[in-house]
Amino acid sequence: MIDVVTSVPSEEAAPIGVFDSGFGGLTVAREIAKALPHESIVYLGDSARCPYGPRDLGEVDGFVQQICTWLVQRKVKLIVIACNTATAAGLAHAQRTFDLPITGVVEPGSRAAAQTTHNRRVGVIATQATVDSCAYSNAIRTFDAGITVFSVAAPRFVKIAEQGIRMAEGPIEDYTSLASKVYIRPEFEEIAREYLEPLRRCGIDTLVMGCTHFPLIKALIGGVIGRDVTLISSAKETAKDVRDILQRRGELAPDSNQPRYDFFTTGGNLEEFGRFGERVFRAPITSLAHVDLP
Ligand code: DGL
Repeated sequence: MIDVVTSVPSEEAAPIGVFDSGFGGLTVAREIAKALPHESIVYLGDSARCPYGPRDLGEVDGFVQQICTWLVQRKVKLIVIACNTATAAGLAHAQRTFDLPITGVVEPGSRAAAQTTHNRRVGVIATQATVDSCAYSNAIRTFDAGITVFSVAAPRFVKIAEQGIRMAEGPIEDYTSLASKVYIRPEFEEIAREYLEPLRRCGIDTLVMGCTHFPLIKALIGGVIGRDVTLISSAKETAKDVRDILQRRGELAPDSNQPRYDFFTTGGNLEEFGRFGERVFRAPITSLAHVDLP
């Protein structure tokens, strides 16, 4: 049963704003909800304009400005850009524009990769726009300038992840095992090999899933890249950063706060967003509304 949200939440229960081009950012939202169980979240999935990856960085920067304006109107206390493409395109601009903390997913993932690698050879798979921006190679090298970064654009993984959500029943990760007939189709493995074999040949020991959609197909990626390569998702690291920022600012919600999770999508099919979103967020989505961002 879905309630349509019409009112702006009151000031004392200031939520955390999280957004992505679609479902992928829900992998980050769920880690935030896990790490900070008293915090309320407003999530926006810009499904009408998904995918962001093939778009021009300037256009995505415009989307970031627009969505942050919308979230600020909803009185959020902090914004998480839970999309690597949007982080690469618009984080710095948004931080300069808005008077509240805004954090992205590239730096947390880069930090985790730099801390994980032993041989200092790190692979990054991301959207075309993220790879073109060099956001990961720059960020990883700020943690350790001696790391060699090998980046591959893997745009078809976004489609596979979105398609997988539609094909599977129940939590999506349960269906991404290589034994599953439902989800991993032979052509998906072929696509994965095409993207990942060159990285294997580079001798990486760490692979950053530099798109928030990719943890949804972690089993496919892990199965092809092999056990000797550690997979990094920025979701958990981002949740830690959110906690640190709020703690520093004395803005953590009190333990007595009853968190609420309000979801919005620019897409046309609310029922579908709710049904698929629950599989990623791993909790019921009871408050969901459509929003138009012209
Ligand atoms: N989830 C987004 C990211 O992290 C990208 C998906 C898209 O292309 O819209 O980059």
